[in-house]
Amino acid sequence: MTPVRVTARGAERWARGHPWIYRSDVQEDRAPAGLVPVHDPRGRFIGQALHSPASEIRLRLLERSERPVDAAWWRERFAAAVARRVGIDATAYRLVHAEADALPSLIVDRYDRWLVVQLLSAGLETMRDTVVDALDELCRPGGILLRNDAAVRRREGLDQAVTLARGEVPRAVEVREGGVRYLAAPWDGQKTGAFLDQRPNRLLAGALARPGGRALDCFAYHGSFALHLAGRAATVLALDSSPEALERGAANAALNGLGNIEWREGDAFEALRAFARQRERFDTIVLDPPAFAKHRAAVAGALRGYHEINLRAMRALAPGGTLLTASCSFHVRLPEFLAMLTEAAADSGRRIYLRQILGQGEDHPEVLTIPETSYLKAAVIQAE
Ligand SMILES: C[S@@+](CC[C@H](N)C(=O)[O-])C[C@H]1O[C@@H](n2cnc3c(N)ncnc32)[C@H](O)[C@@H]1O
Repeated sequence: MTPVRVTARGAERWARGHPWIYRSDVQEDRAPAGLVPVHDPRGRFIGQALHSPASEIRLRLLERSERPVDAAWWRERFAAAVARRVGIDATAYRLVHAEADALPSLIVDRYDRWLVVQLLSAGLETMRDTVVDALDELCRPGGILLRNDAAVRRREGLDQAVTLARGEVPRAVEVREGGVRYLAAPWDGQKTGAFLDQRPNRLLAGALARPGGRALDCFAYHGSFALHLAGRAATVLALDSSPEALERGAANAALNGLGNIEWREGDAFEALRAFARQRERFDTIVLDPPAFAKHRAAVAGALRGYHEINLRAMRALAPGGTLLTASCSFHVRLPEFLAMLTEAAADSGRRIYLRQILGQGEDHPEVLTIPETSYLKAAVIQAE
């Protein structure tokens, strides 16, 4: 294998716990996409990496030693990821969270007996068969689906496709999350079929819902929060702009024998404005919008959007009401998110308590030296 030589600054990034080396820190690179040995400026071996010749992120550290990265190696890394998730009270969760599980650019989500996989770098793409075989041998799933339709693949010069790699995978998979069951859509749902990162926050929302009260799930998707809220609230309004997601939401309500959720298609910004005009009040509100900031330059505009929906939600809270509010924009970091909430609270004219700061579930581990592993932040706040 042709080695890739990196600068001292590139080598230093690995030494300090970050697995990426950028194009600007590569000195000599004549290797094709795939697994490569990496050398420092003095020609010393420093590790094996996934190599993406067309990407800004040129190298992703896979193995620090010269041990062969073979089928046994992959099975071992997968077994470690599986062991980290023992005890999760759900049948749908993330099994491999890429860099955070020392498996850069690889996502594996479990939906009951089925696995949904995303290969997100050109280097990893060359190892597709080995990866799929190792997952198959270790997990023995009913099927493995490759959801390689993620936009980030374009930056790697890769195509976009959804392909069945092993066995069979149903269009809808029934999964359980705590005491709630729901249908995930691995083939054509958003992300890999469900938003698994909010799992513990949904359980919490269910516990926080005011018994007999009125709840609002804004940006509801297929109602994952609404289903938990509906166990305690008298009524839940679930609002989303996607008719397909809402249709599955209604099926999910039926699956749980819940008749107290109203599914409403619409724009959440407009709906929140209308609630303010009509002086509508809710005891429990969830705000789980899509990532408003897809890149750094979009942060200022995103913060204006977050401010608007949070201000309106704060105003729509009944006295003593609770708001669980989230942002999944990687570029909006926790301090900026809390500053935005502070501004919205000041503008709301109400006394707003910060009760809890939340993050992503433990199946989406966050590594301190790899900020990119952490993107979801949320807070529970309460009106006086
Ligand atoms: C992060 S997801 C919500 C996930 C959901 N809360 C869950 O736990 O499964 C964001 C959702 O917002 C919806 N959405 C995007 N823009 C919207 C808008 N302007 N108004 C209402 N819904 C919107 C998307 O269809 C998507 O379902």
